[in-house]
Amino acid sequence: MDHVLKELEQKREAARLGGGLKRIETQHQKGKLTARERLEVLLDPDSFEEWDMLVEHRCHDFGMGKNKIPGDGVITGYGTIHGRLVFVFSQDFTVFGGSLSEAHAEKIVKIMDKALQVGAPIIGLNDSGGARIQEGVDSLAGYAAVFQRNVLASGVVPQISVIMGPCAGGAVYSPAMTDFIFMVKNSSYMFVTGPDVVKTVTHEAVTHEKLGGALTHTTKSGVADLAFENDMEALLEVRRFFEFLPLSNREEPPLKSTEDKPDRTSPSLDILVPHNSSKGYNMKDLIYKIVDEGDFFELQPEYAANIIIGFARMEGRTVGIVANQPLVLAGCLDIDSSRKAARFVRFCDCFNIPLITFVDVPGFLPGMAQEGGGIIKHGSKLLFAFAEATVPKVTVITRKAYGGAYDVMSSKHLRGDVNFAWPSAEIAVMGPKGAVEIIFRNKLDDKEKVEAYTEEYREKFANPLVAAGRGYIDDIILPHTTRGRICRSLQMLKNKRLENPWKKHDNIPL
Ligand code: HXC
Repeated sequence: MDHVLKELEQKREAARLGGGLKRIETQHQKGKLTARERLEVLLDPDSFEEWDMLVEHRCHDFGMGKNKIPGDGVITGYGTIHGRLVFVFSQDFTVFGGSLSEAHAEKIVKIMDKALQVGAPIIGLNDSGGARIQEGVDSLAGYAAVFQRNVLASGVVPQISVIMGPCAGGAVYSPAMTDFIFMVKNSSYMFVTGPDVVKTVTHEAVTHEKLGGALTHTTKSGVADLAFENDMEALLEVRRFFEFLPLSNREEPPLKSTEDKPDRTSPSLDILVPHNSSKGYNMKDLIYKIVDEGDFFELQPEYAANIIIGFARMEGRTVGIVANQPLVLAGCLDIDSSRKAARFVRFCDCFNIPLITFVDVPGFLPGMAQEGGGIIKHGSKLLFAFAEATVPKVTVITRKAYGGAYDVMSSKHLRGDVNFAWPSAEIAVMGPKGAVEIIFRNKLDDKEKVEAYTEEYREKFANPLVAAGRGYIDDIILPHTTRGRICRSLQMLKNKRLENPWKKHDNIPL
């Protein structure tokens, strides 16, 4: 018994030390925390229950038989964030570069399976050189086992990836299939093939950072949701983010007590929309005014900024916000914004999070690049996502709602539950100028007539009255009352039950 306890303590000590003091120091010199330090920041104090601290790899090739470190490069287990259960893994770069062996993968798979069974989110802290090169195909099998769990867990429990070091090769596909990816600036990167291979194949000279750093993925590719300055900031923000999420698809989003009154009015909203309808304004001003305590957790702010997505709360309950941003591309829908918002809408629908949609959209972005890039397929993703969503859906049209984009943006026709419009709303097939140029094509040289027709069209259609007269808009509301009207709507919709027809799964236009 004594010798067991002694050996146990030795192994635990070795596991805690990971790759040793020198490698820990190197990790710190790079501005990175160690895998264990990261978990200390992420989880509530003393809440972490570690599993498989003694697991070692089973490889004997290339001298690996004599080179074993308990834990094998990944720390796994469960704990709490603000008292709520979460399963975690944290890859330890100081142990074989955090590379994934068969045993390392088995540890991750074990916590993923348990998270699915008990209904709790999974957070992965990634810092790994990829497949354990000495293990060959066993490592690939390990990755596939993790991928399979990612897919099974999708839509059942929230999955969050935090990239805090290298994540390369096929290894990127596990985070890619999780719901959210957060990255750390300057110390993390994700790519399928690194700079050396790129140089050989395409002759492009590129740095790790440029190819797959946090800025690239949060501004250009849209792969990641947010980029943080350092490990500490990333982990603390994940704690804040976690508070918005339900534990599983069987649970309601969490309730956070708030002093913010549901019927609080915001007089400044009455002058938010400029008189000149071609002038922009910041839709975020509206979001911050409407939500509880102005607390809005925006995702992908630097990517496809013509649409805004993120979480907030109304009367303490999480909501997903989707909003056109008139300041960028006049709020047009394009390929990137449609994909960005569609995935977010689907996440909210998976996890019982009501959707609030603010609409000011002049239409789909025209042009060769958009058509050639497949706006038809990509634009339909957002349409599909809103149409299939059965969570409570409240929509407010602040200004333009033109053409197909009107239909797409959670309209009444896509089972919008409550559809409001501000008096400044313009709901029509297209803007007055474009409309007149088409229907009076032969009379365009008569300037006076064109102006008269444009004015006639504007008066007739560029307002919310026609749509309200048909019942497509439930009520025209004064901007300053928007928060109160949304809160009431959500209260009314609290017990909404709506089911789509039985199917194995749908076939969203990917
Ligand atoms: C085994 C690895 C390793 C790996 C790193 N190490 N990657 N050991 N398998 N994949 C070890 C190193 O030998 C070294 O050990 C320690 O980790 C730290 O690595 P360094 O190279 O010293 O660190 P650094 O300079 O920071 O460079 C990090 C790195 C580099 C860029 C990640 O290590 C690297 O390029 N590694 C190989 C990446 C790779 O090609 N992986 C396979 C990709 S294919 P010592 O003992 O010296 O400290 C893949 C397929 C997945 O992953 C497929 C899924 C379907």
